[in-house]
Amino acid sequence: MSEIVVLSGSPSESSRSDLVLKYMGSLLLEKGLSVRHISVRDVPQEALFYGKYDSTEIKEIASVIENAKGVIVGSPVYKATYSGVLKALIDLLPQDVLQDKPVLPLMIGGSMSHLLAIEYTLKPLLASLKGQNLKGVYLVDTQIDKQQISNPVMDQVILERLNKQLYYFVDIVNRQKAVVL
Ligand SMILES: Cc1cc2nc3c(=O)[nH]c(=O)nc-3n(C[C@H](O)[C@H](O)[C@H](O)COP(=O)(O)O)c2cc1C
Repeated sequence: MSEIVVLSGSPSESSRSDLVLKYMGSLLLEKGLSVRHISVRDVPQEALFYGKYDSTEIKEIASVIENAKGVIVGSPVYKATYSGVLKALIDLLPQDVLQDKPVLPLMIGGSMSHLLAIEYTLKPLLASLKGQNLKGVYLVDTQIDKQQISNPVMDQVILERLNKQLYYFVDIVNRQKAVVL
């Protein structure tokens, strides 16, 4: 089982948020944590559309998340909130799937206009699954370079914010691991 699950909520084939999430996953690997990246694009469309919460794939995703020590959830801003397909997946997961887990939320929008979407839409959703939200990070398209796969975040201030949030996240995860050992 992976210690960290990175859940990517963009349906886009060339997704900026997915790139940033993969970058964060690579930093976590460097810190010695095992990481599982799950994209909504990998979930069978039929399971999502027809609400097949008891399908093998959905049960497996639920189990991987339940066994993780921490979860990062990322989404593009769509119409001032998280993507519909991310919600379609989350709707199929157990109500307490994030119980007692540190959760690092991340959103990427086209502009700063919907900066508060992370506070008023994504965080409440994750809290309803009983996740322990960190502050999280909000980025805009212009801060990301899709050509730079190894590190797509161009803006230094955002990069520092991202690293700081990851540092807090890893610290909580490691402290929880130490309690269990
Ligand atoms: C259907 C759709 C709706 C969007 N709605 C918003 C919005 O309400 N506010 C905003 O700031 N950006 C909006 N955007 C821009 C995306 O949030 C932005 O380009 C983001 O980086 C896309 O992430 P992705 O590449 O990971 O899919 C929208 C984009 C699409 C395709």
